[in-house]
Parts: sequence; C-alpha cells; structure tokens
Amino acid sequence: MSELPDTGTADAQIWLRRAAAADRAGDVATAEHAFQQALARDAHLIDARFGLGVTYFRSGRYGDAATELQAVVSAGAVDGATCLLLGKSLYLTGRFPESAEAFEMASMEMPLQGDSLRCYARARTYATMIAGETEDALANYSALAGSEAEPMDIVLRDGFGLLSAYGHRDTALDLGELLIAAKPDDAVQRYLNDAIAGRAIDRVPPAYVEAHFDAFAHGFDDKLVHILGYRVPERLTALIRRHRTSFGHVLDLGCGTGLAGEHLRPVAGKLGGVDLSAGMLERAASRAVYDALEHAEALAHLAAKPGMFDLVFAADTLIYFGRLDALIAAVARATTPGGIFAVSIENGARDFEILPSGRFAHAGAYVRRLADQHFELLEQQATDIRLEANVPAQGTLFVWRRR
Ligand SMILES: C[S@@+](CC[C@H](N)C(=O)[O-])C[C@H]1O[C@@H](n2cnc3c(N)ncnc32)[C@H](O)[C@@H]1O
Repeated sequence: MSELPDTGTADAQIWLRRAAAADRAGDVATAEHAFQQALARDAHLIDARFGLGVTYFRSGRYGDAATELQAVVSAGAVDGATCLLLGKSLYLTGRFPESAEAFEMASMEMPLQGDSLRCYARARTYATMIAGETEDALANYSALAGSEAEPMDIVLRDGFGLLSAYGHRDTALDLGELLIAAKPDDAVQRYLNDAIAGRAIDRVPPAYVEAHFDAFAHGFDDKLVHILGYRVPERLTALIRRHRTSFGHVLDLGCGTGLAGEHLRPVAGKLGGVDLSAGMLERAASRAVYDALEHAEALAHLAAKPGMFDLVFAADTLIYFGRLDALIAAVARATTPGGIFAVSIENGARDFEILPSGRFAHAGAYVRRLADQHFELLEQQATDIRLEANVPAQGTLFVWRRR
C-alpha cells in the first residue's frame, strides 16, 4: 500500500527552497519569513533551522541566532561551520563560557584561524576571568590566540567594556583595577571604574568626555549610524518640525561630529554648535553646515548667551549629565520666550542613574518635572536610541516651548 504524502513535510520543503532562493538573492526579510514557515510545518527540518540562524546572525540578532544554532547542535548536527557561527553569536551576546565551548567543538572539526581564533581566545580568556581565575586567564591568552594574539591592553580594555555591558560587574571591576594600575593617569578608565563601582557621580567629568570623544571622533559616525542604528538627530528634528519650521538662532548643544547639522540647517537662520571635544568639532566643521562652532563646556556656553536661542537642540547629550537641574535652568535662561528646547534621553527608572557604559539614564518624569518649571511640553515620543550590548537602548524624545 502506498503511503499518502506528508503534506506538512512537503510544504516545509517548498518553504525551504523559497527561503534558500531568497537568501541567494540577498532578500533577508523574505528568507527569514520562509525559514520560519518551513519550521512551522516541520520543526525538525535542520537545514531550515540552520538557515534561520544564519539569517538572524546576518541581521545582527545574535541572541536569536544563538538559540537556533544551539537547537541545530542539540539535534546532533554538529559540524564545524555551525559551531563557529554559534561561538560567534554567543560571544556577541556576552555568553563567553558557552561561546568558548562552541569554538572548542568547532576546533575538533577544523582548525580555528583568523577572526574565529581571535574571538575564541577572547571568549576563553573572559570566561576564565568570570570564573575568578584572572591570573590564569592572562597567562594563557597568548598560547590560546597563537599567531592571532592581540595586544594585551586591547584585550583587557575591550574585555572591561564587554564584561560590564553584559552584567559581569565584579569581573569588569577587577579588570578596571588592572588597567588603572598599568596607567594611573588614565582619566577615562578611572571614571569608568567609578561608574561601574557605583560610586556617587552626578555628572560625567568634562576631562572624561573630552578624552573619550577625541579618541572616538574618527570612527563616531560610522559606528553610531551604521553599526548602532543611531537616528536621533533626524527623528528629533522631524518632531520639532510638527510645531515650527523656522528659527532665527539655533544651538546644537553637544553637537559632536554634527550629525544633526544637515537636518537643522534648513530650519535655522544661524546654526551654532558647541562641544567639549575638539576632535568631534573638527569633523562637524568639515560638514560646512554650521555658521559657528565653539569648543566649550555646555553650561558655560549657555550662561554666556542669555536669551539668545530660538531652538536649543540636544541629541544624545543629556546622557553625559546626571543631575539636570543646572543644565535645564541654563537652557531656559539662554532661550527666547516661545523658543524650543528639544532633547533625547535614555530611559531609566530613577531620576538619574549611571550605567555600566559610563553614561546616564534618566526617568522621563524627572526631566519633565524640571523642564515644566520653564517650558510647556509639546511632544513626547518613545524611541530606540542606539544598540547597547546588541539590544536597542530605549529612550524618549521631548520637545518643549519656553513660556
Ligand atoms: C553621543 S555624542 C552626540 C553628538 C551629537 N549630538 C549627535 O547627535 O550625533 C555627545 C556629545 O556631547 C558632547 N558633550 C558631552 N558633555 C558635554 C558638555 N558638558 N559640554 C559640551 N559638550 C558635551 C560630547 O563631547 C559629544 O560630542
């Protein structure tokens, strides 16, 4: 007797072929949907699960990629390529011990080299540190990384950032102490150590901001826009334009490399920018959209310009101020009656709290309470600010009008 075809399995194969075709054509959204449809019809279809894992990885969804690839490995399909990609996905979600194990499984099938070897050596090193064996981790790093060994300073600095971002605070603190012992004058590291140790801080020290952004200026635009999906300047400008499309004098507060400049230019009679970092200002100047750029501290700059601005625009700048009363009062004094104050914040549960990144999150209610004393709220909108440890940092955009 001939068996009836299993339509679920047959359908699954059809969806799998569609997914593979979309994948070849570079159509990630269709490929993802088709892989999911294939799995909905046959949950054991390993090729679809692997394909979905790869698709998630390519779109930066490393946690989802790890879940799918782990399922492939658990189903017994342990091949080198799957284990390598699983190792990378786990590394990119801060799961260093599991990442190291996945790379070690891969190494049974194929020698690790290049980026995979670098990633493995770091994952095993950070995992050993998490286990409390920092000395062993340091001693073994070179042998693990072989020809791909990176300078120890870089491995430790990146480790500090990754371990603190992914919640391994105590391990990050140990690393921070090592880094500061090697370079006692490092203002950036000293500040970050204070931040993750939870020492009382109510603003980011200007020396840190300047050193950090001078060092970061060169890669800032590429990293923020292309890697971290930062879109605050255009979103905040769009929100302002719902209320007013023309301003006499505009100040881009903490203008950085001037990502907001091209969005503000069309609505500004005169467009000024102020920033603490000369490196960032140099980049802003190269855009040739600002009428004036000043190397100054925000509060001091505002204090020197009473009643000057029709729009004060602060995109991703308040994160460098913890306590906001002085800043908001200074903006109010520097703004014309009817002038606009537009800001973004990273959302927090308390009035202000320092994050492992060294930046501040604020409670919307706190910012509103302070701003309400001088301004009328026109707009409030939830937004993703940027990726933080590979997940979107939740934030809020506000637009106020000076009373
Ligand atoms: C994350 S960047 C954002 C830059 C820009 N607003 C944008 O949206 O691309 C923050 C900027 O604020 C500047 N900044 C932080 N604290 C400052 C302060 N107290 N005075 C002036 N600039 C400051 C930094 O130097 C840096 O360029």
